[in-house]
Amino acid sequence: MASVSPSLVSPFIPTDSHSSSKPVKLGIMASGSGSNFEAVAQAIEDGQLNAEIQVLIYNNPDAYAAVRADTRNVKAVLINHREYKHREELDKQIVETLLAHGVEWVIMAGWMRLVTQVLIDAFPKKMINIHPSLLPSFKGVRAIEQAIKAQVKITGCTVHLVSLEMDSGEIIMQAAVPVIPEDTPETLHKRIQIQEHRILPAAIQLVVNSYQ
Ligand code: GAR
Repeated sequence: MASVSPSLVSPFIPTDSHSSSKPVKLGIMASGSGSNFEAVAQAIEDGQLNAEIQVLIYNNPDAYAAVRADTRNVKAVLINHREYKHREELDKQIVETLLAHGVEWVIMAGWMRLVTQVLIDAFPKKMINIHPSLLPSFKGVRAIEQAIKAQVKITGCTVHLVSLEMDSGEIIMQAAVPVIPEDTPETLHKRIQIQEHRILPAAIQLVVNSYQ
């Protein structure tokens, strides 16, 4: 069987998505490497996204996202979930921090915690998440392993609004990525991330524009 090229099956990304109005104030939440944080920061620097990152919130003390924020002179605040007994208390602290930094839109860029109504109520329809599958397939943890196990031929990534039910809010943008027979979770994740870095900034601009 001929092998499928691992190149992009392209999503629609509007070319006129850049707004001329004032930059939107973003708060980014990340748990790990922060490559999506970096992609958003780079899109802002390149003039492709009309936004400012007010603060990065991270929950793992060794998250590389914090190093990236530091390099880009973005304030990084550690809110360690292990120090909170209830998820609502954690989210209350997150909301206070986001509001104290003047955040208008919240971007969950590799945030590996479930959110509660406390966060949703503070930023209604103004929270965005990126997930490494074509939702509604493969919700939750290990989405890439789930896709390989299911032997799908195409997977991808989804940017969506956050709702209380995990990985279930309104879909804003998706990109498809072929799965090739040799794929491991790592190789597939690498190709998915190329598309994540492309659609996350575009989706933010798109959804913010629709509110202006
Ligand atoms: C991304 O691939 C993102 O889709 C995934 O975590 C990774 C974070 O990468 N998010 C989830 O799985 C959420 N359910 P990064 O730290 O390099 O941006």
